[in-house]
Amino acid sequence: MTGFTFADTQVAAVIGYPISQSLSPLLHTYWLHQAEMDASYSAHDVAPEALGDFVAAARDHGLKGWNVTIPHKEAILPYLDRLAPTARALGAVNTVKRTYDGSLIGFNTDGMGLMAHLNAAAPTWPQVRPALVLGAGGAARAALGALLATSCPFIMLANRTRSRAETVSKELGRGRVTVVDWDDLGLATAGAGLILNTTSLGMAGYPPLSLDLAQAAADTVVYDIVYKPLRTALIKAAARRGLRTVEGLGMLIHQGAAAFKLWFDEDADTGPTVFALAEEALKP
Ligand code: ATR
Repeated sequence: MTGFTFADTQVAAVIGYPISQSLSPLLHTYWLHQAEMDASYSAHDVAPEALGDFVAAARDHGLKGWNVTIPHKEAILPYLDRLAPTARALGAVNTVKRTYDGSLIGFNTDGMGLMAHLNAAAPTWPQVRPALVLGAGGAARAALGALLATSCPFIMLANRTRSRAETVSKELGRGRVTVVDWDDLGLATAGAGLILNTTSLGMAGYPPLSLDLAQAAADTVVYDIVYKPLRTALIKAAARRGLRTVEGLGMLIHQGAAAFKLWFDEDADTGPTVFALAEEALKP
């Protein structure tokens, strides 16, 4: 008896701890409905010590797969049979897929989601100039992995705790990531084609990210992966300065759509209806 139960129709899930705030059930339920599949997707609160039990129960039930969020993105690795290259490079999984033979493969669609939304929201973002990435956590790693696959010449990485940025640069940077000091951010914005916040700053409950954008070029794109609130202080400041802005909700929607595609081989709608649905659910 594992304590995890699934509805007969359940085909996929999201696990985290706590999980109550997740938007994934809303998105995937909508996409399953659009695909006219008689199937359901649910959230499961999985305490760290119960992760193995969940995996066993999910295997038994034959889930097509599940999304993985904090705090299980790294802890799930030993339970999986194989890792896709991006997940292996990042050492973190946000999507598990069960293949036809029952093996479990770990993927990471965060970077894919980030790029897909950037390319949709600001298709002409200046890829030929360096990018400035703030943060050195899991989100920063996913962002770097994705940006290193573009023609972006190099990436400036800044983090409050500089040593974490140095580690990330060494592990993932392939010689194209330069660590800049958190105190020199204003200067670093001058040459950047893209400024990307992956820190928690600006999120509800955290201080705002106040970045001096005075030296940013007029065609710079400012992307904040924070989506609670939808429009952060950084996004508002960038808009006031006349810069193009990209809000974080799209990354969440696109990483979910990428997982949906992996499980069901169906394109998930990432248009205005889905954004409206998610925005409604995020209203305080
Ligand atoms: P995730 O995996 O979601 O990216 P994380 O590993 O907790 O989350 O990383 C959070 C990021 O936000 C880190 O870069 C963190 O900086 P530190 O490495 O210095 O902790 C950054 N962050 C959180 N609170 C911050 C604050 N008050 N000022 C500056 N950076 C902050």
